[in-house]
Amino acid sequence: MKSIQLKNGQLILIREAVKEDAREVVNYLARIGGESDFLTFGPGELRVSISDEEALIEKNRSTGNKIMILALADSKVVGCLNFTNGARVRTQHTGELGVSVSKDYWGQGIGRTMIEELIRWARDGQTIKKLNLRVRSDHERAIKLYKSFGFVQEGLITGELIISGKFYDFCCMGLWID
Ligand SMILES: CC(C)(COP(=O)(O)OP(=O)(O)OC[C@H]1O[C@@H](n2cnc3c(N)ncnc32)[C@H](O)[C@@H]1OP(=O)(O)O)[C@@H](O)C(=O)NCCC(=O)NCCS
Repeated sequence: MKSIQLKNGQLILIREAVKEDAREVVNYLARIGGESDFLTFGPGELRVSISDEEALIEKNRSTGNKIMILALADSKVVGCLNFTNGARVRTQHTGELGVSVSKDYWGQGIGRTMIEELIRWARDGQTIKKLNLRVRSDHERAIKLYKSFGFVQEGLITGELIISGKFYDFCCMGLWID
């Protein structure tokens, strides 16, 4: 668990999700699809029931190799990071992360802090050896953030995303955990 103070004095708590966060997570997911075209889902597209979200959070916590990290302003979710690694012996050392922050909170260090927490969790757990992610190849701000942790570009998947008839490429990035 970690807290950061924003310039306006607001305190943001960064911690692993618990079952009781499910309602706020569902509200958050419904909101952020409409805030950016850099996600793989659009406005209103990611509809999850509170009970399904509760079950998912519980499952994540019990497997030990999946994690959802939240950024909370009071009890409101303003950022979310998900990481899932392989379920099999040969793939469990690596997994993919997805991160988002609510638009009103961009550029204040929340995304960075959630990724720092994921890296700390991965190091502590010792199972995860590598973090992977995919990011729209024109998302310079996010790519700059990932590179600052040492993520390197490993490949390019063309046409992975289509928005309003236009195709976008995904840049695959990876970070080895020492
Ligand atoms: C990408 C995203 C997760 C970053 O989170 P964030 O909380 O805004 O990022 P941070 O404030 O931690 O900033 C981290 C870095 O981003 C860059 N950055 C942040 N705000 C910036 C801005 N306004 N202009 C340029 N660079 C900026 C900087 O490199 C910053 O590094 P610093 O800490 O050395 O200043 C967030 O903007 C977001 O959710 N965007 C929409 C969804 C999305 O794109 N998700 C990622 C999909 S791969």
